[in-house]
Amino acid sequence: MKIAPQQLCGHRGVAAHAPENTLASISKVREMGLSWVEVDVQLTQDGVPVVFHDHTLLRCTNGTGALKDTALADLQQLDAGGHFSPVFGYERVPTLAAVLAQAHRDALHINLEIKTYPDSDIPALCRAIFACLSASPISTEKVLVSSFSLEALAIVRDEMPELARAILWETIPDNWHEFRDLATFSIHCNYRHLTQDKAKSVKESGLVLKCYTPNEPAEVDTLWAWGVDMMITDDPGKYLTHPC
Ligand code: G3P
Ligand code: MG
Repeated sequence: MKIAPQQLCGHRGVAAHAPENTLASISKVREMGLSWVEVDVQLTQDGVPVVFHDHTLLRCTNGTGALKDTALADLQQLDAGGHFSPVFGYERVPTLAAVLAQAHRDALHINLEIKTYPDSDIPALCRAIFACLSASPISTEKVLVSSFSLEALAIVRDEMPELARAILWETIPDNWHEFRDLATFSIHCNYRHLTQDKAKSVKESGLVLKCYTPNEPAEVDTLWAWGVDMMITDDPGKYLTHPC
């Protein structure tokens, strides 16, 4: 079996080849022939949705403190690429608007992970994302919203039901069907915790099944056989050349 680009989604752009969640990283997705990208969305202190994974700035920028306490103008002074390689030192934490514009230009499907932490204002984050999507040229058909936050997914269901939704779980719980109304498109889980029974149950429900974030193709040979539709990975190129 040969893995096709349509079975792969770049994680945080293509995080193995450019600094995660930057425009440079998202550019790699189309360059590699993929059509899906996953990014994480949070709010700045002044309420602007930006693409960034961590709660704090330390790991992925040359700044400090919490993203939620940093205004966009200050955030955009920071180097968001040098942590990966000095050649990316010009990269900035991108706004969601810029990322959507680039995804639209590259004709990508985008998986927007609503990234929440215990101190996140989840309703404000969701509404800022809705406003940004409404102002963007991207078609809602190209957008999948995913989250570990059931509260966020319920807000999406109630306020922008035309958006496709995915529930993120580390381990799919036994009672996952009780949350079925929060997912219209897919269930995403950690590849390490998927079982054949859970894969069967998701597939029988008619939902798409995706796994994050396997970066060694040999680790998931069995999971394809269980019916997993897509791997969300930092290193899609490895799959395209993997002999299986
Ligand atoms: O969307 C799957 C994956 O991104 C979830 O985990 O921590 O990489 O955002 P994380
Ligand atoms: Mg994510």
